[in-house]
Amino acid sequence: MGTSDRYTVSRALYRRAQDLIPGGIHLSGRPLLDQNSSPLYFERGRGSRIWDADGNEYIDFVMAYGPYLLGYAHPEVDRAAAEQGARGSLLSLNHPLHLSFIETLLRHFPAAEMGIFFKTGSEATTAAVRIARRATGRRAIARCGYHGWHDWCLPAEDFVPEGLTTQIFVYDAMRPETLSALLDERRGQFAAVILAPEMIHPPSRETMVAVIEAAHRHGALFIMDEVKTGLRAPRGSMQAFYGVEPDMTTLSKALGNGWPVAAVIGPRAVMAHAAGMHLSATYHGDTSAMAAALATLEIVERNGVQETVWALGQQLIQGLNEAARRNQIPAEAYGEPIPPMPFLRFTHPDPARNEQLKSLVYAKVIAEGILLHPRHMWFISAAHDAAEIGRAVEVVDAAMCTVAARNPDLLERDGFRPKSESLNRALKTGL
Ligand SMILES: Cc1ncc(COP(=O)(O)O)c(C=O)c1O
Repeated sequence: MGTSDRYTVSRALYRRAQDLIPGGIHLSGRPLLDQNSSPLYFERGRGSRIWDADGNEYIDFVMAYGPYLLGYAHPEVDRAAAEQGARGSLLSLNHPLHLSFIETLLRHFPAAEMGIFFKTGSEATTAAVRIARRATGRRAIARCGYHGWHDWCLPAEDFVPEGLTTQIFVYDAMRPETLSALLDERRGQFAAVILAPEMIHPPSRETMVAVIEAAHRHGALFIMDEVKTGLRAPRGSMQAFYGVEPDMTTLSKALGNGWPVAAVIGPRAVMAHAAGMHLSATYHGDTSAMAAALATLEIVERNGVQETVWALGQQLIQGLNEAARRNQIPAEAYGEPIPPMPFLRFTHPDPARNEQLKSLVYAKVIAEGILLHPRHMWFISAAHDAAEIGRAVEVVDAAMCTVAARNPDLLERDGFRPKSESLNRALKTGL
């Protein structure tokens, strides 16, 4: 079966969506490759596996962009949410579970003493910068990384309010001097420096500390945006990994293992400024997602989840790098910034050839039932196992081997010509 026949139902749904949803998709549903080479619609997930609308099964490493630290449809988490739902998810005013949720969360983040709950990462980061403004009486924010879809954290384009460009500034965490220059230029204006820790890769404590110290030297609060890394990193967070204490932390994604929940936490002296602020929405108090989060936190405490995803991520990175070397493919696997968030980058110096190589390899890998994202870091869950990682490596290896054998011209670079080794291997294995 050609790969385009694999995705017939996906393509039909996509056509139907053109009349119903502007652009046919929400942005997190953008195609991995073109619609003939990758699936667009999925119907079911369990553990590390996901099934597309055509019935094809995948070992999934996209994992819905990060929430499923424990895997899809985790029985214990989903049971907790369903039981809570049966009592009425969202009740008038307050619920005791709001307190248990924050209390339990704080146990995982020793620098924090109070917290507020939300539904999405964007809400949490937006609330954190607003709290920082109130706490400092200042307006400007320095940001680095993706913090969500709200106006303040988008690139300044036509459709965000003009005034934002005088208050929101981007720095490069890998070059903390860019932050110092920014803060120096507008002394006394910055309320907060926010950083998504995946922007420092490979991880460097020295760089992280330089960012935090620059913020504090200028009287700005330091917000660590752990929406992706929270619960997934060793000891539960990148702040624990580095041994640093942010003034506020934003969390979502893995926290609810698929149920929408988010939080901002921090020391009392900072969080107290949130009292009475308008940081509220109708669904914030939903307790089903909080019950899911409590179950997730308990499983994470009990099961050594972080060690598992770290080891599996390392296995994948090592296997992919060996496969790239063996097949003379210009590509490099690495953790972004840590092994449970791995990625494979193609590194051909000619961008056009690089793009072609990448598309060919990914299309083959996806057609063999391994769902890898060509443009976004991947996520390992505790539901993956060593055999599945081995299978993923085997499939990527075979895809690289075939692509290398059939497209030697694509591999040529800076005087390098591929040896016939890949072709020989491909002929031997009949690929
Ligand atoms: C670091 C970080 N912060 C914030 C967000 C926004 O979260 P959400 O998509 O839940 O609004 C994301 C989402 O990917 C993220 O990765």
